Amino acid sequence: MASEQRILGVVLGGASAEHTISVRSARAVMAAVDADRWRTVPFAVSRSGRWLTPEESGLTLNAIELGAPEEIPEPHARHSALIAPATVAALLQCDAVFPLIHGSTGEDGMLQGFLETLDVPYVGSGVGASAIAMDKARCKQIMRDVGIPVAPWIVVRCDEWRDDPTGVVRRGSEFGYPQFVKPSRGGSSIGISKIDSREEAAEAYAGAFACDSEILIEEAMSAVREIECGVLGSTSQGAPVASSLGEIRTKREFYDYTAKYEDPETELIAPATVDPIVGRRMQDLALRAWRAVGAEGMVRADFLLGADGQLWLGELNTIPGFTSASMYPRVFEVDGLPLNELIDRLVALGIERHQRRHSRPSTGREARR
Ligand SMILES: Nc1ncnc2c1ncn2[C@@H]1O[C@H](COP(=O)(O)OP(=O)(O)O)[C@@H](O)[C@H]1O
Ligand SMILES: [Mg+2]
Repeated sequence: MASEQRILGVVLGGASAEHTISVRSARAVMAAVDADRWRTVPFAVSRSGRWLTPEESGLTLNAIELGAPEEIPEPHARHSALIAPATVAALLQCDAVFPLIHGSTGEDGMLQGFLETLDVPYVGSGVGASAIAMDKARCKQIMRDVGIPVAPWIVVRCDEWRDDPTGVVRRGSEFGYPQFVKPSRGGSSIGISKIDSREEAAEAYAGAFACDSEILIEEAMSAVREIECGVLGSTSQGAPVASSLGEIRTKREFYDYTAKYEDPETELIAPATVDPIVGRRMQDLALRAWRAVGAEGMVRADFLLGADGQLWLGELNTIPGFTSASMYPRVFEVDGLPLNELIDRLVALGIERHQRRHSRPSTGREARR
């Protein structure tokens, strides 16, 4: 039996604010994987971006299992390399890698690029789709180009803000209030504010610029429900499938960091009760958004649903949460796909993509000679 076991690397932790969630997602995936078929090897990354060895990663996860904080420690050696040669060698031993670092450096194409360079099969979207989905300014532009409704917005760069803050506040005021202010490449609602007046603008814009060099100022959609839809690639290179819908309910003003991770009153409901016509439209929009960014493997598409059935795509997440409370695995569970089978499917898709790439003629130097 053990000889049939293949190696699945799981990359977790990382520099983003979603470090703890990543640890939880990875633990849930490792616990659910079919152990007869896969031996999981953890690759934990500290907040400063340093990779622990698989042995250190395993010890850290064991300690967390026994009650230590869900935090990847910095490696002991003061001047340790970002990644030790032995850790790279262990990555190269993997039959597939499941990147489970949410947010910057894990979900934005950087980790995907590293795995491409190592030529290791991995789960989920490639470099380009990951980078676009993470970047709200670019992603919304593409959504608008393909006719997917999004809340009206403008993008402001930090040099514009530095050179003419009064002009930026004036431009922002054209959306009226309340309005949302957010970093373009953020997550977990960090750096996001909902403001009710022009007087609050400067502080909110500065807060968003503390997280990114580009920010979005958006019209606030009112009386909205927050509905999420999972999309999963099919194994046959054919059409992806959209899941049942899930709903987030918060008593807070919006789905902010506290609502996401701290407020026990936040509810995740799956399946959501939505008018079937609106639900199908949402699933169709999720599939169109998937195609528009060139996503692979998995995406969670987050929507705002107005009282009159109007829909806006909020954002796309290429590495959705996989914790026991997370929506992406829950909506597929509702559809009859338990977590271990969902993981199997995602890993198979990553391996298929890798094989497809190798069967294509090279576009590199050899091809040009
Ligand atoms: N234009 C908007 N209208 C209404 N609510 C919004 C709008 N933009 C963001 N929100 C609220 O803020 C939350 C976080 O925004 P989102 O763009 O999804 O950023 P993040 O990537 O940090 O999750 C949403 O789940 C929603 O509650
Ligand atoms: Mg969001």
